[in-house]
Amino acid sequence: MFSKVCVFLVIASAVNSVAGQGFPGSGSAGPPPTSGGGNPGIGTSGPPSGGGFGSAGRPTGSGGQNYVCVPIGTCSSFTIDVRIVTPGNQQQNPCPAGQEPCYTTGNNPGNPCGLGTTQCGTRLASVTSNADGFSQRGAFPWQAFIVNQTGYAGSGVLIDPYHVVTAAHKVVQNQNNPRNIGVYMGIWESTDVSTAQYRVVSRVSIHPQYNSASLRNDIAVLRLENCFTLGQSNYINTACLPTQGQSFVGQNCLVSGWGETSFRLNDAPTMRQKQVTVPIVPYATCRASYAQSNLLGNRVDFYLDSVGEICAGGQSMRDACTQDGGAPLVCPVNGRYTVAGLVIWGKGCGAPGVYGVYTNVPNYVNWIQNTVNTQ
Ligand SMILES: *[C@@H]1O[C@H](CO)[C@@H](O)[C@H](O)[C@H]1NC(C)=O
Repeated sequence: MFSKVCVFLVIASAVNSVAGQGFPGSGSAGPPPTSGGGNPGIGTSGPPSGGGFGSAGRPTGSGGQNYVCVPIGTCSSFTIDVRIVTPGNQQQNPCPAGQEPCYTTGNNPGNPCGLGTTQCGTRLASVTSNADGFSQRGAFPWQAFIVNQTGYAGSGVLIDPYHVVTAAHKVVQNQNNPRNIGVYMGIWESTDVSTAQYRVVSRVSIHPQYNSASLRNDIAVLRLENCFTLGQSNYINTACLPTQGQSFVGQNCLVSGWGETSFRLNDAPTMRQKQVTVPIVPYATCRASYAQSNLLGNRVDFYLDSVGEICAGGQSMRDACTQDGGAPLVCPVNGRYTVAGLVIWGKGCGAPGVYGVYTNVPNYVNWIQNTVNTQ
């Protein structure tokens, strides 16, 4: 029977099932809710104007906002107003030449979001292998481990300290009860939260054209009540967003997650994060495959969407699988990783010639940014 929501990593060397071991978010030892009201700042309005120079240490803006000076373009937020330093523009930039202020929230001392400490898409480990199998800790520091009131819910990707992008089908049930959803960052072993941070979700924004029957426009933005602290020691970073409409067809990209290692094995979340390399294929290739009568036949164009979806994989035992939903498919661009897709569905997992279907994130960048800026 065709399963629409089949998402997950099939790795040739299957790992042992860890069902029953528990994982963060389940049981009584669940995460403490983070207290406090919403944070101002990222995403809610433009950055404040910088105030005077601090005489020593970290400077403080006139509105009480803090900032750190970072090389231009490296502040880990796309809402930052990059003030290019030109001779006529010196006074607006409180930082030394070649640097820009990276603002943090007004009421928090220091740099609670770790802004400027990392560059988007940069791994926080010296990764020695992209071979299929277990990942190395820190190889996918943008990967979010999402829980709901019943435990592990799915995966997602951190795009700035306050926002996670995921598949709508993983969070839509809690659209009106966002605080039922929590996000862990910095997780590698799903049974070990010692290095992880946990944040409660304060708003779920589902794409307005999301269709739960066809899974078209299967994308959502989660706004967090408090920011995650980016940083090397936390193993937490953002992935880069692509440009609107950017194509990754023909590239070999990586998908990572804690999903099932085999279709219906029911072993998700697996204990340790896994990774698999998959080629992104032309839409026509994918459609031709799914149009076969043993797959979707004449229902192919109900499910497959040439604009909102991309396909990757098609190689035996190299695929995402059930419970990998929302997991990011990332492609290297000059050594940094950009989000190309989010795991949404497939038919079975890891069957040769049957592709994994992903939300075509580059087609939603404008929507993501508008949502972040108005959430
Ligand atoms: C929690 O997430 C799981 C996995 O995605 C899902 O099966 C379950 O229905 C969700 N629970 C609620 C109450 O949304």
